Amino acid sequence: MNPTIYLKDYKNPNFSVKHVSLCFELNPEKTVVTSSVRYERQQDGDLLLDGEGLALQSIALDGNTLDKSQYELHDKGLTIINPPQSFTLDIITHINPQANTALEGLYRSSGNYCTQCEAQGFRRITYYQDRPDVMATFSVEIIADKATNPVLLSNGNPVESGNLDDGKHYAKWHDPFPKPCYLFALVAGDLAQVEDRFTTQSGRNITLQIYTEAHHIHQCDFAMASLKRAMAWDEQRFGLEYDLDLFMIVAVDDFNMGAMENKGLNIFNSRLVFASPETATDDDYIAIEAVIGHEYFHNWTGNRVTCRDWFQLSLKEGLTVFRDQEFTADMHSRAVKRIEDVRLLRAHQFAEDASPMAHPIRPASFVEINNFYTVTVYEKGAEVVRLYHSLLGEQGFRKGMDLYFERHDGQAVTTEDFLSAMADANNRDLSQMQTWYEQAGTPRLKVSLDYNKSSQTCTLTCEQSCPATPESKEKKPYLIPFKIALLDDSGNTLADESTLLITKEKQSFTFENISSQPIPSLLRDFSAPVLLEYDYSDKDYAFLMQFDNNAFNRWAAAQALATSTVLSLVENPDTSTRIINHAFKALIANTNLEPALKAKALSLPSLSDIQEAWLNTHDTMNPVVLFEAKKRLKQNLAKVLQAEFLNTYQAMQQTSDDDTVDLSDKAMQQRKLQNVCLSYLASLGSDMLDLAYDQFESANNMTNQYAALAALSHQDYPQREQSLKAFEAQWEGEANVMDKWFGVQAASSLPNTLNHIQTLKQHPKFSMKNPNKVRALIGAFAMRNPLNFHAEDGSGYQFIADSVLELDKLNPQIASRIVRALMDWKRLEPTRQALMKSALERIANAQGLSGDVAEIVNKSLGG
Ligand code: TRP
Ligand code: ZN
Repeated sequence: MNPTIYLKDYKNPNFSVKHVSLCFELNPEKTVVTSSVRYERQQDGDLLLDGEGLALQSIALDGNTLDKSQYELHDKGLTIINPPQSFTLDIITHINPQANTALEGLYRSSGNYCTQCEAQGFRRITYYQDRPDVMATFSVEIIADKATNPVLLSNGNPVESGNLDDGKHYAKWHDPFPKPCYLFALVAGDLAQVEDRFTTQSGRNITLQIYTEAHHIHQCDFAMASLKRAMAWDEQRFGLEYDLDLFMIVAVDDFNMGAMENKGLNIFNSRLVFASPETATDDDYIAIEAVIGHEYFHNWTGNRVTCRDWFQLSLKEGLTVFRDQEFTADMHSRAVKRIEDVRLLRAHQFAEDASPMAHPIRPASFVEINNFYTVTVYEKGAEVVRLYHSLLGEQGFRKGMDLYFERHDGQAVTTEDFLSAMADANNRDLSQMQTWYEQAGTPRLKVSLDYNKSSQTCTLTCEQSCPATPESKEKKPYLIPFKIALLDDSGNTLADESTLLITKEKQSFTFENISSQPIPSLLRDFSAPVLLEYDYSDKDYAFLMQFDNNAFNRWAAAQALATSTVLSLVENPDTSTRIINHAFKALIANTNLEPALKAKALSLPSLSDIQEAWLNTHDTMNPVVLFEAKKRLKQNLAKVLQAEFLNTYQAMQQTSDDDTVDLSDKAMQQRKLQNVCLSYLASLGSDMLDLAYDQFESANNMTNQYAALAALSHQDYPQREQSLKAFEAQWEGEANVMDKWFGVQAASSLPNTLNHIQTLKQHPKFSMKNPNKVRALIGAFAMRNPLNFHAEDGSGYQFIADSVLELDKLNPQIASRIVRALMDWKRLEPTRQALMKSALERIANAQGLSGDVAEIVNKSLGG
């Protein structure tokens, strides 16, 4: 087992670095890396260099080859014993990009070279102090065969290029901004490019380029347009301008995560770049714009100001997610964006916070940092940044950001530094915000209301608590901005919207001049990442769905009503669904609601949301029973409201004379609602499936084609096979579209799905070495197929265990993502609990497990 690393053990580096010079002689199996680094002593001690999987060729200090007694080589690095005050170290290493299936360091994707250095990939390129608090300027020379690698890219500005003997050529790059090595990048290969320009608010001219393989270059225009929108938005909203003369994006097919913010040279998973209406859904378009924004925004929040150590990851990720959320909200519908973000948080982050992997947004310890790129660090981290925004307002938040950059530009800092900048810029004591960084677990906020008719006062009493999590049992109270309003029984406000400041475990707030018994509208816009507990009846939810004047809360009420109904159906299958039937009928009929909001409110809560609600009052659960109850509710609503769904479905259908696809917000919203209706209708089976098949056949865009295929995928219907075949034939040349094809089959609730997945693993377009494929087939089965994954014979769990063991030898980061599906065995009913645990134990007992997987397995079995 790898050692645990603790935040409390943080020490400054013994040496700082002035400048790094790198030279790469690219070769698939043996790339020669020459590094020349200027070091300066900061404190006593040896120079500790990280290095993994490197073949050391030579090492020289100020030009003199080091003698074996002057350094120590071990399997995690190299120690230079007692070096002088300042010196230059020259190191030559050999690496093998072709054999690199972990996709960390320098590797090959579709025959091209690329790098991924965050978090600790640079140590797989050369020996270096691989830690973010060592910042230096970089010069890079790349030498490669010109025919196979016409394009040679690295960070910063191009300096020089030219031809060499033997058909080789070279390019030199210089990045003038000091950066940690995790932001280093190199790309080389046979790539086409699109180019555009952006003029900054101060009048500087920036060249923008997107690189990818030639056959995809026509699908990069939307990404380019998104980049320009992001650049303009960051200037307007935060006064932040781009700082180099060149900004490059490269799209590659093999990538562990979504994208990476390397200085001046962002590298993207191709699925987050390529877009055309035929191949990308509307959701894909929105995701591309968001991630292009996210990586671009990192230039200031992450690159110019970076993290002191990896415990501070949320400093850059939470803040940058908040920024990309705001970007999307400003570009599209703010309410819809808020709903989507909260849905994701509630479905995944709340579950993580209740799991053996629960951790604070700033963890106090870790074994493998790659395991902490989580929904907690990213999404809950963004919620915590949003708390400052709620507490300080837009202007106060901006003042805090300005001071943060004024103080820390060019530095590697901590979340405390961010907190201080926000507090000092606004003369506020925000020290209690620290609790959000130090404690894991989702806080509960229990609220009760007491109305006194004779005094016309209403008192809200709020009690906060937080369940025990691995890092601590006892919890300190949080600072919670609690946005509320009080409504009368026809929806008029009795007390206008206000934000209550909760600081203590128990607190009361009294409102005067309240003329009738109020219905409270609580936690408006989800003003804090907490679980709200208030004794609403289903009738109250139905009322709030219709009359709350906060759009987010209308959605939240619909979700709560659906959850409450599902739970009642579990207890008693004959429970009346009258209230929700009526409420949903009124919802569909409401002509004042924009289609996207209607679509969101009609979408039932995630199974994970329902599970969390169930586990609020039970120790264990049967996910299949919860799934079936949700399905029953859906079919029941579809049956009762069939005419309404059908009418709306037809009303939302768009016709165009020339077969062009309308990508306006309005058209996207209509397709959203159309396809939510389709999903309800298709759940009825029989002739409603013809509707889906017709849509599949006639669709001229991926949104409608995919929605129809997904609707058909759960039904044993003759045209199901036919549409899957047709889809495959149409899209076998588009890797990212084929992922949708693998995904719908893996998520199918039909009984024979697992066998079918085994067959699909042999499909020529499937590869265990490609993370997108693994996520599409194996990830989808584990995450989006509760019925088959939780099969009563344990076959689903065993399949995931087999997959994890196979993947771990190729790519530990991906194996470690998949294994999380088995982590929460303790919450299952006894039979499944034993089966899942035994699958996990089989992994635990395997030889040569990676540190990544071992950490998750140990936390799950040991904790
Ligand atoms: N910093 C990247 C982002 O959020 C995350 C990332 C991309 C990453 N690739 C990675 C993290 C590989 C760990 C490993 O924008
Ligand atoms: Zn990020």
